[in-house]
Amino acid sequence: MSTPSNAIESNLVENRVFPPSDAVVKAARVSGMAGYEALCAEADRDFEGFWARLAREHLQWNKPFTQTLDESNAPFFRWFGDGELNASANCLDRHIGTPTENKTAIIFEADDGAVTRITYKELLGRVSQFANALLSCGVGKGDRVLIYMPMTIEGVIAMQACARIGATHSVVFGGFSAKAVQERIIDAGAVAVVTANYQLRGGKELPLKAIIDEALAMGGCDTIHNVLVYERTKTACNMVAGRDKTFTEVLAGQSTECAPVAVGAEHPLFILYTSGSTGKPKGVQHSTGGYLLWAKLTMEWTFDLRPEDIFWCTADIGWITGHTYVAYGPLAAGATQIIFEGVPTFPNAGRFWQMIERHKCSIFYTAPTAIRSLIKAAEGDEAVHPARSDLSSLRILGSVGEPINPEAWMWYYKNVGGERCPIVDTFWQTETGGHVITPLPGATPLVPGSCTLPLPGITTAIVDESGQDMPNGAGGILVIKRPWPSMIRTIWNDPERFKKSYFPDELKGYYLAGDGAVRSADRGYFRITGRIDDVLNVSGHRMGTMEIESALVAKTDLVAEAAVVGRPDDVTGEAICAFVVLKRARPTGDEAKAIATELRNWVAKEIGPIAKPKDIRFGDNLPKTRSGKIMRRLLRSIAKGEQITQDTSTLENPAILDQLAQTN
Ligand code: WTA
Repeated sequence: MSTPSNAIESNLVENRVFPPSDAVVKAARVSGMAGYEALCAEADRDFEGFWARLAREHLQWNKPFTQTLDESNAPFFRWFGDGELNASANCLDRHIGTPTENKTAIIFEADDGAVTRITYKELLGRVSQFANALLSCGVGKGDRVLIYMPMTIEGVIAMQACARIGATHSVVFGGFSAKAVQERIIDAGAVAVVTANYQLRGGKELPLKAIIDEALAMGGCDTIHNVLVYERTKTACNMVAGRDKTFTEVLAGQSTECAPVAVGAEHPLFILYTSGSTGKPKGVQHSTGGYLLWAKLTMEWTFDLRPEDIFWCTADIGWITGHTYVAYGPLAAGATQIIFEGVPTFPNAGRFWQMIERHKCSIFYTAPTAIRSLIKAAEGDEAVHPARSDLSSLRILGSVGEPINPEAWMWYYKNVGGERCPIVDTFWQTETGGHVITPLPGATPLVPGSCTLPLPGITTAIVDESGQDMPNGAGGILVIKRPWPSMIRTIWNDPERFKKSYFPDELKGYYLAGDGAVRSADRGYFRITGRIDDVLNVSGHRMGTMEIESALVAKTDLVAEAAVVGRPDDVTGEAICAFVVLKRARPTGDEAKAIATELRNWVAKEIGPIAKPKDIRFGDNLPKTRSGKIMRRLLRSIAKGEQITQDTSTLENPAILDQLAQTN
């Protein structure tokens, strides 16, 4: 572990406190700090009893659990282990026969602006029908299904249908390459792929099925017997007889009723691959019971959800935020939600604000990187400024995925929230399943740039490298001391890596989040300072430096060595900067530019366009210690354009620093 280094720098120190108004406090589900503290006290008093109560109140069980938490095989914790339930039934069937059945579940706005609405009852029919289609292809309980879909109702249907029959889904974001898809198919041992012919983004038709074809042609994917293709557009795509079927074909004649399969609470609902500090992406495995409890509970706690709310989380279903706060949480909580297919800048950068007005969105949840890029756009063009839209329907704003700098927070608060809407800056991770540190809108006084306090029952702390608690005001390593229901259960296929990554021996059995943090001296509020491992956060997308390095050195005809670091970026939070040593002489001028472009395209093919380095610099060598270790700390300084003030006496080749700095 190194010291926190990737923190976003901010020029503005914002010490103002924004307490919730009396009216907001009065109406809130968790009302005032007294309400928050009462829940914390309940969890303190009887930890297991607290979770058992919530799990009974919030979920419908086919078989009630008798044991709440099983710690006998720590850190492989089990929650509600002998209980049985079905996630899809808890999102859909539970609303049938209640006033929610005819409520709009999803307002879908397509890339081109076309709007479709679907009620809970209709959604249940479509999910059941697709579940029957999966069954007819021989997919069943325990099988893994890879989903590579655009942001559409059909993407959510595919996920819910898997849950309905007890199949474990593994959604891969549509921006990942064929190679990335192939690796995930092999690791998960998936039996089927659900995809679309194309996706529509920003007025462009982009292939999805062709990428699946390419992935399957790379070999090792013999487990795949079915590829189901949603015809998102009219354009034809290649279809392999016997293996590939369109949605139209596979849904024909399927009943709209399908009994949900009850599974054990620990049954893997999904695997979601995310980047770690070393090697290949990790298949984060989540449970059914604990995960779903968290998805529903945090919808109600963090967003103070009410029946009349129109909720909009802008995340793609390919990321954890799109799992918990699009595919599961809003449905379990019976909310009406907006799903948007396109991009925030098409047809112009006012799209989000126009959509909030059009659909009377009341809870809006997005990423700081989107806010920062829309601030830039609004500064350059009055026509796309949020002031041009009627945003009076908004009640609560949220932020997720990376630290939100106080400047962006203030802009969001004033220009989008009209200084009336609390902002919940939610800190969490793929591994935590849902929010862990966040303000509650009707309780917590807000401080811009701080995610404030842990949710009730979540035992976050800041410790040093031996697990000792740090005092408020001193930075350290963020841990969670006790297990919680929605935590990662294991890394698919790699329990040893799970233990090593998240429960290292020196940390006394605490969960290691991988972030640095500091608590304020006055309030004990948490502020996340950035990852302490080699994970970057670019536009809220998590990426391992090692992953990008491996991709670069895989270009064996050209690259001898590569080191990747992050540097702060005004819009994307962090930007990827690669230092590369070629197998030929160090290129300069136009040749360097051409090779940099070639390498960027190569990385896009190996991982996906989101992993393309912004900066590529060539050197004769990399700064190394005498034992051959690359000194990344120095590379980070060079990437930022800083003067090197660190001690370089242990360097084998100090002259290389000047060379790398000059290619700036
Ligand atoms: C970062 C996304 C500061 C953090 C839900 C974490 C944040 C990583 C915040 C997880 C926040 C997420 N403030 N940093 N509110 N939310 N992060 O797995 O570094 O894609 O470890 O989950 O994003 O990214 P992941």
